[in-house]
Amino acid sequence: MDVLLLGASGRIGRRIASELLDRGHAVTGVSRSGEVDGIDDADFVAVAGDATQPDQIARLAAGHDAVASALGPSDDESPDRLSTMLEAVVDGMRRASVDRLVWTGGAGILNVGPDTQLIETEDFPEEWKPVASAAIDAYGILDGVDDLRWTYVAPPALIEPGERTGEYRTARGELVATEDGDSHISMEDFAVAFADELETGDAVHTQLAVGY
Ligand SMILES: NC(=O)c1ccc[n+]([C@@H]2O[C@H](COP(=O)([O-])OP(=O)(O)OC[C@H]3O[C@@H](n4cnc5c(N)ncnc54)[C@H](OP(=O)(O)O)[C@@H]3O)[C@@H](O)[C@H]2O)c1
Repeated sequence: MDVLLLGASGRIGRRIASELLDRGHAVTGVSRSGEVDGIDDADFVAVAGDATQPDQIARLAAGHDAVASALGPSDDESPDRLSTMLEAVVDGMRRASVDRLVWTGGAGILNVGPDTQLIETEDFPEEWKPVASAAIDAYGILDGVDDLRWTYVAPPALIEPGERTGEYRTARGELVATEDGDSHISMEDFAVAFADELETGDAVHTQLAVGY
């Protein structure tokens, strides 16, 4: 598969790039600078692009089989930029006639009980709320898109650099947690789940929650 990976220079994006390359896919990795550190593979090319610009997305996406995203606004930007980016990605993909999108979302939207989302729970850290709300707003945009085959891959509550075990569990729209309530995954195993979904297309038009 030829994949355009937005956010390839980010913490999660770099792991997705490595996972896809290890599986033999070709990856065009986008960052604003055009640089992606730490990836050296003949099937990888790093390019410059601004994901808030539909015309740039259209130009970059053309000829690819799918668009993958691990986009996130920088700390010095408003979290609302995420919605601007998603709108530009959808617009650009339509112009480029690329119809498969796998998007890295957030855990805040996931249900933890009947009619309760993780973001609504008492223990949800106040300082995470702006970013979590932005990821929920992004889902709201995707939910109205029916002409692209999109998947919103949602991490568990905690996702950190770690080991690739190849093990993970999924759920549709519900937080994945262990029996003792621990909800986490390594970024490496998140990348495995992300790549599996990109390859299979099993969870189109839904929230695919992943975790251990
Ligand atoms: N538990 C959770 O719910 C949870 C936990 C962690 C992360 N996440 C979400 O997962 C996503 C990725 O997280 P991360 O930690 O990997 O983020 P990160 O390290 O900050 O990476 C963000 C990426 O987005 C790119 N980017 C930002 N603005 C851009 C623009 N205008 N044009 C092109 N590229 C742009 C950055 O590229 P350059 O800056 O190099 O241009 C970078 O590659 C985020 O949406 C984050 O909110 C969710």
